[in-house]
Formats: sequence, C-alpha cells, structure tokens
Amino acid sequence: MTSIRHLGHAGFVVEHAGVRVLIDPWFHPAFLEAWFPYPDNRELLPEVVAGSYDYLYVSHTHEDHFDARLLALLSRDVTVLVPDFRSREPARRLRALGFERQVRLGHREAHRLGPDLVATMLLDTSHKEDSGLLLDLGGYRFLDLNDCNTPMSELPSDVDLLAAQYSGAMWYPNAYDYPAEVMAAKTAAVRADLLDTLARKVKLTGARTYLPSAGPACFLDPELDRFNDRAATIFPQWEDVADAFAAACPETRVVRTAPGDRVDAPSPPGSWATDPAGYLAAYRERRRSEWQAWHTEPCAPVGADEVAAYFTRLQRLNRPLLADYRTGIRVEADGAAWGLTLGELAERVDLEDPPVDPAYTIRIPPRALRAVLDGRAGWEEALLSMRLGLHRDPDVFDLTLLGLLRYGHRPAQTRQLARERSGRGGETISRDGLRLQRWCPHAGEDLSHAVIADGVVECPRHHWKWSTATGACLEGGALPLHVEPEPGDPVPVLPEEPSA
Ligand code: FES
Repeated sequence: MTSIRHLGHAGFVVEHAGVRVLIDPWFHPAFLEAWFPYPDNRELLPEVVAGSYDYLYVSHTHEDHFDARLLALLSRDVTVLVPDFRSREPARRLRALGFERQVRLGHREAHRLGPDLVATMLLDTSHKEDSGLLLDLGGYRFLDLNDCNTPMSELPSDVDLLAAQYSGAMWYPNAYDYPAEVMAAKTAAVRADLLDTLARKVKLTGARTYLPSAGPACFLDPELDRFNDRAATIFPQWEDVADAFAAACPETRVVRTAPGDRVDAPSPPGSWATDPAGYLAAYRERRRSEWQAWHTEPCAPVGADEVAAYFTRLQRLNRPLLADYRTGIRVEADGAAWGLTLGELAERVDLEDPPVDPAYTIRIPPRALRAVLDGRAGWEEALLSMRLGLHRDPDVFDLTLLGLLRYGHRPAQTRQLARERSGRGGETISRDGLRLQRWCPHAGEDLSHAVIADGVVECPRHHWKWSTATGACLEGGALPLHVEPEPGDPVPVLPEEPSA
C-alpha cells in the first residue's frame, strides 16, 4: 500500500510497503514568531507527534522546515535522512536534539529505505543549503522539491508527483521602501519568475501531477498583516496563479490539498481559500499567545560597541568573501542609527556619526537586532520575518553584503559563494557560438539552460541578464559573467547595447 499525506506547507507522511517517512513537519511559528502555517494545521500535531516513523527527512534548516519545537516532541527512535551540506549544520543540530541515527546523503546519493523504496537526495549545489528528496515507491516517483533549487540540468525525470513551491519566500521586494508603482512592477516580475521557474521544473521532471506546496505562509502578528495581501505581495495562494500554471503546463494535473489530505483524496478548498480574510481573523485569535510572545519577551538595550563587535567578528570569519570589497551600510533601531563601513581589510568596523553614505539601510526592530546579536537568529531569519525595512541606493542587489549577512555565521557557505563569484573552478560550457561559465554567479544555476538571444544571456532561475559581448550584468545584480566567443567561431553579430 502506498499513501502520501500532506501535513500542510512542505510537510508529508509517506507510507509504502510498511515503511513510514515523515517529511518537513512544520507546526510552530517561524522566523521571529512571524510566519505561521497556512492553512492552519495545528489539529494534526497530536497525531504527528504520537506517530511512529522509520525515517525522518528535514530538507534544510529554515524554521518552516526545521521546526525544532516539533522535533523535540518526536520519538528519537527514527533514522534521519540528512542532506550533507558543506556546513554540516543539519547533522549537528539534529544530533543536539538527540537524533543520533543519521544517514548523511550527498547530492544524488541514494539510500534504500525498504525492499521497494529508495530515497535519492538532491541538493542545491550552490552556496545555498537546501535539498529535495526523490522517493521511488515501487516505481511511483514522488519528487519533493519543496523550495529547493537543484540545478535544472540535474533534476530527475519521469516523475509521477512533484511537490514544489510556487509562492515566494523572500523579503525582496516587499520589505523594501519602493514607491507604490515600482513595488507593483517588481512584485509582478518576481511572481512571473516564480511561475516560470516552476513551469521549467515541471517540464524538466516530466511531472504528471503537481502538488502546490511549501507556501505561502501567513503572518498573524497584526504588525505584519500587509504581507497577507495575496495580490500585492510575492506570496500569492494557489487560486491566484492556477490559470497561469494551467496555460504554461496544460498536460499536468494539479492536486490541491488541505492539511491532513491524502494526495489521492483531496478535500474541497475550505474557507482559507474562499474567505481568506475571515479565516485569518479567526486564526489570529486562536494563536494570539504565540504571536504576542514576540512583543512581550524581555529585550536588553543594544549598544554601539556591541554592534561594532558583532560586525568585526562577522568580517573576520569571512575574509575570502570580502577580499577587496568595501561598502557602507546604515543600521537603524528604535531611534538609534549606526553607520558602518564594511569590507576594508575585513578586520575592524568603524562606527560613524553622522553615518557614512550608505548603500543599504536596514531598519530593524530592537528585539530583532537583540536576537541577531545574541545569536538566537541570523540575519537570514530576521529578513525572512519581514519585520525589517530595507532601502538601497543604488537599487542594485549586493551579493557580497547579502551573502555576508545571510551566511556569514557559516563561513563554509561564504567560501563557496566566493568561489562561485569567481567562476567556480573555471568550468565552462559552449552555447550558441559562445563559451561561458557554467554556473550562474548569482546562485549557481546551471547556465546550460540559459536563454541566449539578441546578445543577452538570461539565467533560467532568477532571470539575471548579461551582455554576450562584454559579460556585464544588464539586469538583476552587478556581477559579471565570464563569456567570450567560442575559439574559432565567428564573432556573433550583436545588436546595439540597450540604453540604461
Ligand atoms: S541563479 Fe539567480 S539569476 Fe542565476
């Protein structure tokens, strides 16, 4: 017997021939008590905790997948399938929770879970640490990609059921202070990119059925209610994108599940789909004590010396990333503002008053800054909480700064980021009379699947664009691409450079 049951968000219980696998169970608020599962799945918690499982798989350490409060309630009599990331972070944290039986699997490594059940790990092979799992259930292939971006060239094919993200899970652009029309345009562009990426995954895997999963979450703290606006943010729910998906992937069946549904017997969408505002109001009341906890915890004031010491240490840990980098940022918290010059020598931070002319301004609630300085949260978690406000000038993504903030506490990731930025070992591919670096300098997508037309190389994942003539980044960020005419090939005829 095979059963795949959706627990909400990216959670599943898969059962096949007597083997039970629990996947990414998420029930408690994540990211500074900001994200809650949507729709509410709390009524499943007692049975999930009481259940017995042969295997547990946690795809990565984001709190909407790695729910430490839930994991602490589970029996440790289970074998954990652990993605073997460079940082070893999931293995270490699972061991700290008492999960000693671990099977660490690298990219494309397989492990037999039963006579007729094989799991294959798929990693995001860039500096990002995320994973998906292919379960071969007696020939039925379930690919749980959640929000993982395995390089497109390495996705498995002949997939029966694909569970993957369609909605955003990022602070850009909605945490920025863009004027309304700029925000609307950027939001629309990100939503289109998300759908395009999903359609590519569906086509490349040959998925016969698609299950919308891994988001969107909802925000129950009234301070964050604006991010529940499914039309104005990058967090649409399925009903908002279903028609566009059907147009892009007409052959693919969609199964829309509520928490607790078996994939082969989905229930009709409830009030969470038909009356989201009313549903959220009641949900907010049920979880009042949980989102209010964020506002009532004691919070010691933050001092300038603490901020300087924090960034000095962060830079010392990340010298290979920073190299000759230099930028100014401004951190504002509850009326205080610190101007920081980062990068120069990567040894010390100068606090300036009045602040340096900053490229990035981060407005952060004191509680969130306290959590970061105390090591209870990283900048990644703080940014994902949507509790921070951001401004950048010029309006260009700074991979080095964001890499430092997001991954700086795990230097294994920033070392990899530095390698990718420099062309990642010089691996190149030939396409359309060009020789170009294989891995995208942004986040490591395989540019074998790039769109190359009219003198522009476009990455299929986040759609950064580069000039084929110069390698200069035209859209997305500021990192150049290594690209040159294929030796011996005539130089391609290029259109005129687009004006700025
Ligand atoms: S991986 Fe993000 S643009 Fe290529």
